[in-house]
Amino acid sequence: MNPAVVTIDGPSGAGKGTISRALAGRLGWHLLDSGALYRLVAFAGLQQGLAADDRAGHTRLAQALDSRFGARADGTELIELQGVDVTQGIRSEASGMGASRIAAWPELRSALLARQQAFAQPPGLVADGRDMGTVVFPTAPLKIFLMATPEERALRRYKQLKGKDSGVSLAALSREIAARDRRDATRPVAPLVPAGDAVVIDSTGLSVAEVVERVWRLGGERGLWQK
Ligand code: C5P
Repeated sequence: MNPAVVTIDGPSGAGKGTISRALAGRLGWHLLDSGALYRLVAFAGLQQGLAADDRAGHTRLAQALDSRFGARADGTELIELQGVDVTQGIRSEASGMGASRIAAWPELRSALLARQQAFAQPPGLVADGRDMGTVVFPTAPLKIFLMATPEERALRRYKQLKGKDSGVSLAALSREIAARDRRDATRPVAPLVPAGDAVVIDSTGLSVAEVVERVWRLGGERGLWQK
């Protein structure tokens, strides 16, 4: 039997990462942060000095990506690229914008597909991204589309980045989030849209615990775990 998969899609800053991590932690399930894969490719491209529009070069990087998702001794996330810790580096807005640009290329998305599907291992997987429910795990028994107003998402990202990416301002972040939303929603392949069978949750004004609780109830109702 295929392991159960819960997909959590939505725009940047909607809280997908936080909710997915909390849910995976509570269930003891695996976690796929698919955005990190796109960020890793963009980051590697920047490091190697690839031109921003070098599709073949970035696709080759995606095919041969030597990455590792793990945890430090204190439990915090550790992401490595060719054995080097890039956990912070891939979270910069430059890597995010680069990721959004290269993610519009179908051949690059295909190059990352099997790698993402391989995360579905027992006892189960929480998959966080943009097309988890529509493309990567179309038969997942629970699909969430998490959204929040652009203002709230920019503010969350700002709080997240403060201290890590010193050059950020809230106004610039709002503009970048709007640009990224536009590109993610209008690209011809795997655009950011809720799956037909997704449950849409608006997290504006809700706490992390409140959103996790809603997802928990939904999974319980569908028999994915004991309520
Ligand atoms: O979620 P995160 O902000 O890390 O993702 C970075 C970018 O990667 C997104 O703006 C999006 O363009 C792209 N992405 C995607 N499909 C996914 C995950 C991320 O296209 N499943």
